[in-house]
Amino acid sequence: MDLGVITTFDLLAAVFILLATYLFVKWYRDPIRKIPGPPGLPILGNVLSLNPSFLHIQLFEMARKYGAVMKLKIFTYPIVVINSKDACLEALIKAGTDYLGRPPMKRMSTIAGKDIGFHTFDEDHVMLKRIFTKAIKAYGPGIAHLENVMQETIQDMVDSIDQKGDQAIDTNELVVGYVCCVLASMLFGEKFAYDDEVCKKMHQMNTRQIEAGDPMSSAAILDAFPFLFNFKFLFADTHRKVEGAVKLVNEFSKSCLDQAKASYDANNKRGCLDYFIEIQKEEMDKDGKPQLDDEGIKGLLLDFIRAGLETSRRSLAQIFLDLLHDPGLQKRLQDELDTQLNPTHIICLKDKEKLPQMEAYLLEQFRYLSQAPVLLPHMTLRDTELIGYKIPANTVVLINAFHTAHNPDIYEDPFVLKPDRFLDKEGKCVDRDHPLRQNFLGFGSGRRACPGELLARSRIFLFLANILQKYNVELIGKLPERDVRKYPMSILLSPPSMHVKFVRRQ
Ligand code: HEM
Repeated sequence: MDLGVITTFDLLAAVFILLATYLFVKWYRDPIRKIPGPPGLPILGNVLSLNPSFLHIQLFEMARKYGAVMKLKIFTYPIVVINSKDACLEALIKAGTDYLGRPPMKRMSTIAGKDIGFHTFDEDHVMLKRIFTKAIKAYGPGIAHLENVMQETIQDMVDSIDQKGDQAIDTNELVVGYVCCVLASMLFGEKFAYDDEVCKKMHQMNTRQIEAGDPMSSAAILDAFPFLFNFKFLFADTHRKVEGAVKLVNEFSKSCLDQAKASYDANNKRGCLDYFIEIQKEEMDKDGKPQLDDEGIKGLLLDFIRAGLETSRRSLAQIFLDLLHDPGLQKRLQDELDTQLNPTHIICLKDKEKLPQMEAYLLEQFRYLSQAPVLLPHMTLRDTELIGYKIPANTVVLINAFHTAHNPDIYEDPFVLKPDRFLDKEGKCVDRDHPLRQNFLGFGSGRRACPGELLARSRIFLFLANILQKYNVELIGKLPERDVRKYPMSILLSPPSMHVKFVRRQ
């Protein structure tokens, strides 16, 4: 063998050995390697075996196999999925801020500017969330003024149902109308009619921004690799949708803010928007500029509408499915209303404590649907550890709330709707610290938890109780299937809507 001549083959072999050694060392040092998970292909990872539209049920099945924590790979990018309730709470609460980041979502952040939901955890996030939470407390459920406005809104809804008589009503349209009116009332502090332009604009803006930021479309690659966003010829249609949504959001928030500022009276704050303006006037940063600028208020408005509308809409779609699949449930809830309350009384939040069956059903409905199966994606802000596994900074982490809420070790027949599981022997609802309630993490937990939980629960209660007190809900057309395992997923699960008629009860 002539050692003096290096052939092309020798060079290729050397490059190959170096590359193989580099990949081996990288793999060996990768702490995520030790976390169990389904085997994937080189370079592609688990991409080919995942179906984004039914990710919730795939992750549920994997959780049964791989235990408390598992990993997936999307190409070479690892994703850690936390499956057990205890490990989820360790990440969300005990680990401080380690897991509170959000992965970059370029399309959504372009539309919303400074928002809470898609913004990573930093000073801006803490400031915006503090203001948002205070505003909901000051102008939300339990506040007399809003209660009055909500009662009027409900009365309007009842009148509009009565006007339709025996005609078919699209449950989705009814619910969107109701939720938009309530959200607009909270924001502006006055009552809105169903067909008010503000409510229509809120709905339109919400639909457009969801289309533009759809996490399950192929354009999601723009979120994963934000530099691609600069090449406008890639995904030209998505860019058009994003620009359209930006225009609508900017126009809507500017017109709301201009009007609210022009009529602002510090001694008579009407709703959340006035509260945001007050904060803008009063809280300054170290340079003497408002901490909450107009861009921040725009983000808060959008958080309000997006988070409030989409989630409530889906819960109420599930409720209609339940009432029609199980007429016995409808009758039980009505019997409770009839024995506990005067039939002419418009139901308010105070009545909740007299209605344990209703409360148990709502808890079960939230559990069964678990509409945000993996919450919103989290990201580690620094190198950290979870039940003995090392997880590096900037790793995407999913909280498998769908698994904790359907864990067969905790819930008998987890895919069957059984409201009674939340009632004790005396017929009262089980306490908040009961394992059945603790395993439901559908609103998140800790510092990234949903600030609208109380508002959502109370608004859904008021809707259901008032409808069932006055009407029997009857199906028109075909009854869609009720099986949460088959609902399509796109961050949130989508139960099907349907047409119904409301028949006045005697
Ligand atoms: C059935 C109704 C609702 C459900 C199931 C729900 C669920 C959730 C979930 C799972 C998260 C993410 C938690 C995490 O990533 O750890 C979230 C965040 C959020 N929700 Fe809700 N939500 C509901 C209603 C509302 C309402 C009515 C509002 C306000 C009007 C609201 C405002 C927000 C905001 C601003 C965030 C972002 C919090 C953050 O990133 O720090 N939500 N919600």
